[in-house]
Amino acid sequence: MVLKRVPVRKIGVIERYQEFLPVSEKTPIISLNEGNTPLILAEALPAELGLKNVRIYFKFEGLNPTGSFKDRGMTMAVSKALEEGAKAIICASTGNTAASAAAFASRCGLKCVVLIPEGKIAKGKLLQAYRYGAKVVTIKGNFDQALTVVKEAGAKYPIKIVNSINPFRIEGQKTAAFEICDDLGDAPEYHAIPVGNAGNITAYWRGYKEYKKANKSETLPVMLGFQAAGSAPIVLNHVVEKPETIATAIRIGNPASWKGALEARDESGGLIDSVTDEEITWAYKFIAEREGVFAEPASAAAVAGVKKLAKKNYFKEGARIVCTLTGSGLKDPDFALSFDDKIVLVEPTVDAVMKVVNG
Ligand code: F0G
Repeated sequence: MVLKRVPVRKIGVIERYQEFLPVSEKTPIISLNEGNTPLILAEALPAELGLKNVRIYFKFEGLNPTGSFKDRGMTMAVSKALEEGAKAIICASTGNTAASAAAFASRCGLKCVVLIPEGKIAKGKLLQAYRYGAKVVTIKGNFDQALTVVKEAGAKYPIKIVNSINPFRIEGQKTAAFEICDDLGDAPEYHAIPVGNAGNITAYWRGYKEYKKANKSETLPVMLGFQAAGSAPIVLNHVVEKPETIATAIRIGNPASWKGALEARDESGGLIDSVTDEEITWAYKFIAEREGVFAEPASAAAVAGVKKLAKKNYFKEGARIVCTLTGSGLKDPDFALSFDDKIVLVEPTVDAVMKVVNG
């Protein structure tokens, strides 16, 4: 069969969902064709978790232009910054926001400053920020301290903050919920998502509510947020001064959108729970090795959370669960290589290769 080629014009989230976004014909749209990410049906996971008649989908945000969901919010934040006449943008970041801000800034000639916590950022993200041409400043402290500095800088200097305290970030990120409803024909019964600074859970919940209000969907999901056990301020109900976890993207002790996360939880009848680094690592390996989906450790927290709840028989029969896989596994090569997989070097002969294969 000869397939006919159809010209496809790829568009980003602002153009696609403009009627739901605070933009006008005056807004210069800075886009990298972000969004439109696949909703991938899990093949092995439900059986592994003992879930019968339940479908699990991965909303794989690692396939965005800079490899994370941040691009959805950044196209909005940067477009609006330009519209408002900004010349420079700044953010604190555990890595992905920095990479995304740097990319969108480079595309429109804005100066970009990113503040990152010392030693706790995945290498791929750091490289992106450098290569897209941002000014990278390492802080002797954690993300929460970096964000405090950013807030002060934004108040004192003519530089636009593009962390999710910038309301346009949340606006852009809510488009992921729209896409899920468009793909499934309605909202899923459950939505599982990792929680760090809590902007994304806030954005999804807003997106689901707005779509329902516009009669584009009929139901709302139960929102399930998951923090890493060593960085779980919302679960513990207090700030964590020294957050720790292998999932460096969500190593955050005082989330800016704390209130938004509580609203999503309470209005949807959901929960915010924590998962251990061990549980995150299990999920990280499982989805790569059994589902063919390589996401970063923080993303795996959503899957780890679903596993934890499945054990408690939390999910009802016939349900659809969407897990947002927030970023690409390629971002964190050091973690990916931290297992006991050995890279073996052999002579270029079949015998030598087969010896290793049969191990
Ligand atoms: N997953 C990944 C891969 C992230 O990079 C982040 C946040 C989250 C989940 C949590 O999302 O903060 O909206 O609750 N990363 C931010 C950053 C903090 O600086 O890149 P959230």
